[in-house]
Amino acid sequence: MIIAVDGPTASGKGTIAKALAAHFALPHLDTGLLYRAVGRQVQLNGGNPDDPAEALAACDFPEGLLEDDILRSEEVGGYASRVSVHPQVRRALYERQRAFARQEGGAVLDGRDIGTVIAPEAQVKLFVTASVATRARRRWLEMTGRGIAVELAAIEADIAARDERDMNRADAPLIAAPGAVLLDTTTLGPDEAIAAAIEAVLARFD
Ligand code: C5P
Repeated sequence: MIIAVDGPTASGKGTIAKALAAHFALPHLDTGLLYRAVGRQVQLNGGNPDDPAEALAACDFPEGLLEDDILRSEEVGGYASRVSVHPQVRRALYERQRAFARQEGGAVLDGRDIGTVIAPEAQVKLFVTASVATRARRRWLEMTGRGIAVELAAIEADIAARDERDMNRADAPLIAAPGAVLLDTTTLGPDEAIAAAIEAVLARFD
């Protein structure tokens, strides 16, 4: 069984994908991490994320980079969003994600284009959303909890800019796949969101 979990930043899709993988004993791939690694590698190369050739060169990042905590930072998230616009970058990362999705026994992948591009044949597709204000607040709580001083308004502006870029790019824009189950987590806590996602998966096989 392939489960595709797509949605915007801080919607809860990562938490949901991880929990679904544990519940159904499936391997999980956070595809955003791949784009974050490319963004970080451009930064390390002193390159420009808006330049397609420089972004493509960064797709050759060392595997160890995926373990680096700095990938989780807002700054690297911004770089990831900028490199992910280039079709060359998306193509370079395609095979790796596709192979993960097609492995024997199935998998859970979360990202922006799993249900539309990477695994359109997925038996279950979830599109996880939440209001911008809620997502900004979640990200703010997470960051201040880690001791990072940030303004809520700055995070909200950042998330809105990232949404705009992800939803309006020409190649693989963030959009709910046909047949995807919409899961709005605005008023749900993590446990409720996970329970709703498990229920949505089971409902596909009723
Ligand atoms: O999910 P996460 O916030 O880690 O993703 C970082 C960025 O990578 C996103 O803003 C998006 O631009 C890009 N991305 C993408 N396609 C994916 C996963 C992430 O374009 N499948």
